[in-house]
Amino acid sequence: MTLRLAGLTLGLITLLATPLTHAGHMLDGQLLACGNDAPPVITGRYNKGANGDTPPAEKLVEMGRKIFFDPGLSASGQQSCASCHNPAHAYGPPNALSVQPGGPGMDEFGVRAAPSLRYVHAPQNFTEHYVDLMDNNGQDSGPAGGRTWDGRVNAAREQALMPLLDAKEMANRNLSEVAARLRKAPYAAEFDQVFSPPGTHILDDEEGVISWLTTAIEFFEQSPEDFHPFTSKYDAYMRGQAQLTKQEQRGFKLFNDKNKGNCATCHPSVATSSTVIYPRFTDFEFASLGVPRNRHLPANQDASYFDLGLCGPMRHDMQDRPEYCGKFRAPTLRNAALRHSFFHNGVLHSLKEVVEFYVTRDITPQRWYGKDAQGHAQRYDDLPARYQGNVNTDVPFKPLPGNKPRLTQQEITDLLAFLGTLSDGYEAPANHATPAKRTTTASLASHSTSSR
Ligand code: HEC
Ligand code: HEC
Repeated sequence: MTLRLAGLTLGLITLLATPLTHAGHMLDGQLLACGNDAPPVITGRYNKGANGDTPPAEKLVEMGRKIFFDPGLSASGQQSCASCHNPAHAYGPPNALSVQPGGPGMDEFGVRAAPSLRYVHAPQNFTEHYVDLMDNNGQDSGPAGGRTWDGRVNAAREQALMPLLDAKEMANRNLSEVAARLRKAPYAAEFDQVFSPPGTHILDDEEGVISWLTTAIEFFEQSPEDFHPFTSKYDAYMRGQAQLTKQEQRGFKLFNDKNKGNCATCHPSVATSSTVIYPRFTDFEFASLGVPRNRHLPANQDASYFDLGLCGPMRHDMQDRPEYCGKFRAPTLRNAALRHSFFHNGVLHSLKEVVEFYVTRDITPQRWYGKDAQGHAQRYDDLPARYQGNVNTDVPFKPLPGNKPRLTQQEITDLLAFLGTLSDGYEAPANHATPAKRTTTASLASHSTSSR
């Protein structure tokens, strides 16, 4: 795979997900294999470090962490990856802004909400024809996979260059600027030491600096304790270490029920392919939900501007595919309860509102959309009319007979209680603290090691 940027070819390191390295795990009697979670493998020109051999994975993770938290790599000198992907917020945004500021003066805004980086560490590569292995009907369910809201990049190391070079984010003008900033970093000497084969200095080799910088980020983004800790109450429940309350159980049922929430269809609550241990609460498939236009985004001041996801304009390869317009990749719902802005344009600001949107979108459109000249609600106002047929109208959008929402207020409350069990950092209640905690820590440790 080759990425051409500013005249530099970055095809020299190839990171390949290793094939299935170990047998599945037994979990509550269910066999759940893991594969994609394996650490990246390094081949290509920049594959040897200080020992004349591949640098140890722990060293790559450690360097990746330093890079991820380094504001010195941005033109403003104020923005690191962690500014938008904050560890205290499940590597999502630390505030309620729809989109995060960036650029050289920290006063530019893009068009998309910063996602949590948890549990999206190992998406399948983008494909137009996804067939879920455990879905026994074997049907082609269309586009799935890739990274970002529109799946336009596969490799994490290629993704990492996007914010570094985005004029509204870390705003480096080219790769030379990125490399120059890294050479001035407090950890530059260590970087040189770790990644220079004997008798050489990697810092003198711009291509080498970029390759190792992005590789280190890729390794860091695979780190289990940071990016897939599986420490939610729901995980504890799956491990038999916690009980869901009656309300959470009701919410879980509604989440899965095809006639009620139907959420699990796109946000699976059990492992659905051979590549995961625990469910990720996304199938990485694409759908058009008719999300309202976010009138506060600067780009949307231009009435003719539309972010159409799969069909562009940020993604370039499918602009002639009208059937894809308006489709975005389903995000994970793990840690969604910790977020303060939702959907690709960050237009909604509470999880309750999101669930209400799902069940009342087509019943009370005036609550969600802007008005046309005649004062009527302009349904699906963030999509040109010709693409509105792409909008999903199945359950839970589809009203019950009598034009009633799929979920009552009580059911919405129950569903929210269940979504709350998907946040990491669950601690067993005090009366069970000592034994439960010990088990949790021990089994987490074993899961972390085996899932790598
Ligand atoms: C100014 C805020 C901002 C900064 C800084 C930033 N990101 Fe992001 N990040 C975003 C947004 C917004 C998206 C979604 C982009 C899209 O859909 O086009 C994103 C998407 C991602 C994704 C894809 C996640 C997924 O769901 O597939 C990864 C991985 C990521 N960022 C890593 C990084 C790394 C590594 C850095 C630092 C080199 C970084 N980000 C810096 C805002 C930011
Ligand atoms: C047809 C597939 C589908 C179904 C069914 C579905 N979702 Fe989604 N969900 C998506 C997609 C796609 C997005 C992103 C849409 C966008 O931003 O344009 C999304 C976004 C979300 C978000 C925003 C998360 C974030 O990080 O911004 C939440 C919360 C959510 N869904 C919860 C639910 C719940 C709860 C249900 C059931 C009531 C549900 N979804 C049913 C596909 C689906």
